Amino acid sequence: MKIAVVVGTRPEVIKMAPVIREIKKRGHALLVIHSNQHYSDNMDRVFFEELELQAPHYNLEVGSSLHGNQTGNILIKIEPILLDEKPDVVLVQGDTNTVLAAALGAAKLNIPLGHVEAGLRSYDRKMPEETNRVVTDHISNYAFAVTEIQKDILIGEGHCEDTVFVVGNTIVDSTFQALELNKNFDDFLKKYNLSPQGYFLATIHRSSNVDDPNQLKTVLESLKAVSEKYSFKILWPIHPRTKVALTKFDLKLPSGVVEASPTGYLEFLTLQKNARLILTDSGGVQEEACILGVPCVTLRENTERPETVTVGANVLVQKISVESTLEVVDQVLAGNKKWKNPFGDGKTSERIIDILEERVGRANG
Ligand code: UD1
Ligand code: UDP
Repeated sequence: MKIAVVVGTRPEVIKMAPVIREIKKRGHALLVIHSNQHYSDNMDRVFFEELELQAPHYNLEVGSSLHGNQTGNILIKIEPILLDEKPDVVLVQGDTNTVLAAALGAAKLNIPLGHVEAGLRSYDRKMPEETNRVVTDHISNYAFAVTEIQKDILIGEGHCEDTVFVVGNTIVDSTFQALELNKNFDDFLKKYNLSPQGYFLATIHRSSNVDDPNQLKTVLESLKAVSEKYSFKILWPIHPRTKVALTKFDLKLPSGVVEASPTGYLEFLTLQKNARLILTDSGGVQEEACILGVPCVTLRENTERPETVTVGANVLVQKISVESTLEVVDQVLAGNKKWKNPFGDGKTSERIIDILEERVGRANG
């Protein structure tokens, strides 16, 4: 079987790494196509190196631009590659513009499409990712749902039961496989002069939090109040979108909030694992905090990862203000610190390839 894996951004490289490894392990022909939606070394190259992935077979070099332009460029550039390479199946993961474009590219050519992390819904159509998820799910032939929750959502939206598979989330595979790599993880804390349980960690990059100067200012004021109240440093590896916004709006980080560049995956896992608390609006970080057993405060009105909230690992600050953030941080720090990981056993990639071997193999045979 020839499997094309399309990636474009930091989380896609991280979450597809175990799938790529599994495809190679089983001896299938692998084609990795990278849109280069993310291209800075610390958003891209570092992950290929650390996760020991070979360079992509194709790099579409689309870079940053407006949503329609970026999505359209990927679609235009991927079509001749798919026509030429004729993969048996195309796999995409998540909800980025790369995912939407590659999914459309495959569907228009009648190439079977598998969507990894299917069925997530925030029910917030202002989020660009929500449109990408809904469209990709509805044109995919294999919807790889994380839990029964996403399966029910997909069936409720009219998906045929026979095309939805509950497989878990590959982020568990990624986390476990990364922690198994033989690295000196302690060095990552020393780099920032941090001790286990002695700091908070932040990541914020959602368009709804950073593209509006007033909202971003409120986020900064809230982080300042949290750092002051608990006398904890907040380490913040700043996403490029956020960095651009801070510069554009001429906003400075408050004292107590320590800026860092985006880090590699092993470094970020170490920073998460040892943090007393994580403040985030990232999808993947909500999942990883939950897997690693670290309490999480999500600075968003909604989440498409409701399992994290249900198990007690994550609380949302729905309308961000200094008061509401402090209230949620108080609640989370006083709360339960033990919960069950709802995202699977680390064998999600194996299940995905099992299903493709069975289904795509059958269709071809
Ligand atoms: C994208 C995804 C988002 C995902 C995030 C992961 C969409 C609509 N959004 O958001 O779902 O959570 O990736 O991190 O697909 N930039 C750089 N270097 C890079 C990449 C981006 O400097 O390597 C800067 C550019 O100024 C760019 C901005 O970041 O304009 C935003 O990048 P973009 O890929 O458009 O969206 P993200 O916010 O990264
Ligand atoms: N991550 C990282 N370095 C960082 C911040 C995040 O390696 O400085 C990893 C993190 O461990 C997670 C993924 O990036 O696996 C999440 O990506 P991001 O927050 O950019 O996107 P989202 O998950 O919100 O789509």
